Amino acid sequence: MTNSALPIGIFDSGVGGITVLKEIRNRLPHEDIIYLGDTARLPYGTKSTSTVEQYAEGAAKFLLKRGIKILVVACNTASAVALKSLTERCFPVPVVGVVKPGANKAVVESDNQRHLILATEATTRELAYTKAILELEPDAVCQEIACPMFVALAEEGWGEGKIAVSVADKYLGFFKDQDHGPAPDTAILGCTHFPLLRDSISQVLGEGIKIIDSASTSAEQVVEVLREYKLKSDKTAVGRVEFLATEGVERFARVGGNFLGTQLSKDDIEVVDINLF
Ligand code: DGL
Repeated sequence: MTNSALPIGIFDSGVGGITVLKEIRNRLPHEDIIYLGDTARLPYGTKSTSTVEQYAEGAAKFLLKRGIKILVVACNTASAVALKSLTERCFPVPVVGVVKPGANKAVVESDNQRHLILATEATTRELAYTKAILELEPDAVCQEIACPMFVALAEEGWGEGKIAVSVADKYLGFFKDQDHGPAPDTAILGCTHFPLLRDSISQVLGEGIKIIDSASTSAEQVVEVLREYKLKSDKTAVGRVEFLATEGVERFARVGGNFLGTQLSKDDIEVVDINLF
């Protein structure tokens, strides 16, 4: 069972999902939140479908045991690979992923329904964004590009500057140099880490392309689901945020602080062993 006094559970393979946490916090400041970063097993994006599924289920099971009223799968890779199985396993706790909200936003913002999707290898392998877009717009044209190095750059705090632009150019430079027919007018940042490279990506793709970030639309979806399930907290005090990691509190604090936009201390983070459950 679930009830409105429980916290919102958010999980990601690491700290990147803090981009989603921030958006949820902006909209729901009175909610308590547990954020779990599975840092011991990061990255998910280079792993096989069955491995990601297994990791995602472990993380979800851990959060359910801890007690949450909704599960937010902030990790694009886990959303692309495991949303269906997580939704079944977590029932009756509702589950929100980031792929559908991102796809919705791209369809709404696009004039020509040509979309570029930038994501991890595992996410592009699943073609989850393409499938979600085609459900909304059967004539849409989608191209998915795996950009795994962007994850490392964001983790390092190198999302901006010469190196980031040069890596973005390596992945995406072909786009402006070749004639591909009508150009996409949206580029979906289909990975938690890519918002930190937004300017570098935009610089390479040029001004005619809208950058779509699913964090804000995913947060809106969380608000909607809480309302629909009558799970909104009636607290008036500011909610608590608990950060949990499966290893590396120093790194979590340093890199997570970049994503959060404020400093985090290692004492703010609890190390948990999700295999105990
Ligand atoms: N959180 C992952 C995603 O959004 C990126 C990092 C990883 O590969 O684990 O796809």
